[in-house]
Amino acid sequence: MAKVKIENLKKYFGKVKALNGIDLEIGDGEFVVLLGPSGCGKTTLLRSVSGLEKVTEGRIFFDDKEITNLPPKDRNISMVFQSYAVWPHMKVRDNIGYPMKIKGFSKEEIEKKVLWAAELLNISELLDRYPAQLSGGQRQRVAVARAIVLEPAVLLMDEPLSNLDALLRVKMRSEIKKLQERLGVTTIYMTHDQVEAMTMGDRIAVMLSGRIQQVGKASEIYHKPANIFVAGFIGSPQMNFYKVKTVSEGANLFVEGEGLKVPIKKDPNVDKLVLGIRPEHIYLEKEENTMEIEVEVYFIEKLMSDTIVHANLDGGSRIVAKIPGDHEFKEGEKIKLYIDKERIHLFDPKTERRLDI
Ligand SMILES: Nc1ncnc2c1ncn2[C@@H]1O[C@H](COP(=O)(O)OP(=O)(O)OP(=O)(O)O)[C@@H](O)[C@H]1O
Ligand SMILES: [Mg+2]
Repeated sequence: MAKVKIENLKKYFGKVKALNGIDLEIGDGEFVVLLGPSGCGKTTLLRSVSGLEKVTEGRIFFDDKEITNLPPKDRNISMVFQSYAVWPHMKVRDNIGYPMKIKGFSKEEIEKKVLWAAELLNISELLDRYPAQLSGGQRQRVAVARAIVLEPAVLLMDEPLSNLDALLRVKMRSEIKKLQERLGVTTIYMTHDQVEAMTMGDRIAVMLSGRIQQVGKASEIYHKPANIFVAGFIGSPQMNFYKVKTVSEGANLFVEGEGLKVPIKKDPNVDKLVLGIRPEHIYLEKEENTMEIEVEVYFIEKLMSDTIVHANLDGGSRIVAKIPGDHEFKEGEKIKLYIDKERIHLFDPKTERRLDI
């Protein structure tokens, strides 16, 4: 096991700044998820930590040892990829044992560890099959077993579940998480799936354009997104955003714009702002700390146990509310919704950063 420290890491491919100054510390035994959209630099970061990619600038440490320029084989890492990179011509047991074979372990040692890893991944019955005789999920288990057989200091996973069907993905999510806890292996896990990130990571680092936008526990990222990108990327349906201005009426302060007027407690000292409110923080019933708005229903979606209401504010801006339960509204119907005033978010449109009020 090891702690990992990444310092001002940059990786340029010609003009493309795939990594543009990454700073990240990962504790010994911690499970950190790098979450970001396609092209944000996840794979590049993983390849840089593994040594497959030579970095342009910056340093990487495992514990206190700098490993920035060490070849992959000397880093004590293992990787699992999206595509099940297992050897088609080798039986499962030989696939799992392969990393030990090339390190020169004895047959007995290999056999023992293969059985151990297969047991952990629940594939002991499959050891004499070839990969072609396995399902996608089983193949991915083989890849994970092979990755842990040498008990690496750091486990790197690049979207390992994206090729699996939805049900299997949910199952594997908890299995990988449990396995990681059991082994205590420091893990960096790349994904573009926010649910995967929120459920698996001890901490989540949200990435965009080669930069980390915010690092924190799932609840911090959800409740206090550091900027507009993070606020919009986490949450489903997406947060509603409005362009507003601060207005004062006597001793009272409001933000107002696009048909909304919401009281705020503290002067953000910025004239123009972006107001954010999550669909799940808009209610159908009046509650403590809510403010009433009247909207015109535009479109309804029934999503499992929720009703997603798309409606128009006075002035025509759209608002989306996620209402628990099954509700019938007609297009064009005027209804009242209640915005939770305590759960609004404000951002500075210039810097896009969160304003704490
Ligand atoms: N070998 C390369 N040569 C040139 N550009 C590259 C190379 N590898 C990656 N890039 C670019 O670097 C950026 C980051 O790519 P990367 O593969 O790390 O993204 P990603 O977050 O893993 O995306 P995805 O979710 O689609 O896998 C992209 O703009 C990509 O086009
Ligand atoms: Mg990738």
